[in-house]
Amino acid sequence: MKRRLILLALFVLCLLGLSGCTAEEEVFPELILRYADNQTEDYPTTKAAEYFAELVEERTGGKIRIRVYPNGQLGDEISVYQQIQFGGIDFTRVSAGTLAEFVPEAELLQLPYLFTDADHMWRVLDGEIGEELMDAVRFSGVVGLSWFEAGARNIYTRTPVHTLEDLAGMKIRVQESDLMSQAARLWGAEPVQLTYSDVYSALQTGKIDGAENNWPSYESTGHFETAPYYLLSAHFRLPEVQIVSTVALDRIRAIDESFEEVIFQCAREAALYERELWQIREAESETLVRERGCIVTELSSGELEAFRLAVQPMYDGLSGKAQELVLRILES
Ligand code: GCU
Repeated sequence: MKRRLILLALFVLCLLGLSGCTAEEEVFPELILRYADNQTEDYPTTKAAEYFAELVEERTGGKIRIRVYPNGQLGDEISVYQQIQFGGIDFTRVSAGTLAEFVPEAELLQLPYLFTDADHMWRVLDGEIGEELMDAVRFSGVVGLSWFEAGARNIYTRTPVHTLEDLAGMKIRVQESDLMSQAARLWGAEPVQLTYSDVYSALQTGKIDGAENNWPSYESTGHFETAPYYLLSAHFRLPEVQIVSTVALDRIRAIDESFEEVIFQCAREAALYERELWQIREAESETLVRERGCIVTELSSGELEAFRLAVQPMYDGLSGKAQELVLRILES
């Protein structure tokens, strides 16, 4: 009996010791926030989101924890943006195509062949124009944090397409964007606006003949399995933007005023990380789909010029103010 009592006392002491230990080491967050991304866990944007979450947790001494929900678990980009506007979701990263639905000034980013290359785009986005666009984002009721890389987009199809003429009458998926539809029409195709997550089955069932996207998206979605013809048209260079809801930002500031700057700083660092990851993933995705037998067609400068000339009416039809901005971009 005595021995049993001693064992019981030892057991209780152990438990107390253990719980004491846990209470000392674990800091319970004061705020748990949600971050949505429509890409897979291993995609550069999602990895950068995880990195952002780690930085924020570390620099707020564990007071703010951010949970990342990849694979479009919290909805498609348009509905996530809407939820961010009223504070239902706290953070996300969306394509400029989605941003343009909410921020008219960002529509211009969807003009085909606006940027000559990635350097040109970064000169614009990391400069004055990028800041002006971020200010415009505030008018949509959310706060823009940083710009992410998403490479150049190319057209891919189920059946062979080698030139602009081959696109005639083909049903090509575009984002839910009228400007993108206009571009597809000017190339002779029939645009079909679809949510990203619906493209895979639309390709499989033949509801569409093709779509357009960058190398990592083409690969990670598995679209290359049913649409193995990849035409290097490099027509859009759509950056992506990381945003936070104003409701979340208010709650963050309420814990500590200085945490707002922590969020901005961590977002900038996460964006630089994403740009590095992007370079690696872009090359890996290209290698993978080539190895899997995709047929990649390069266009001669003359053929590329045909793509560019076909969309010239989009530039000619711009309002005076938009033309001014395009000119500033082209001169950057
Ligand atoms: C890219 C981008 C996504 C976007 C998708 C699309 O993959 O990263 O954010 O949703 O294009 O074409 O819809």
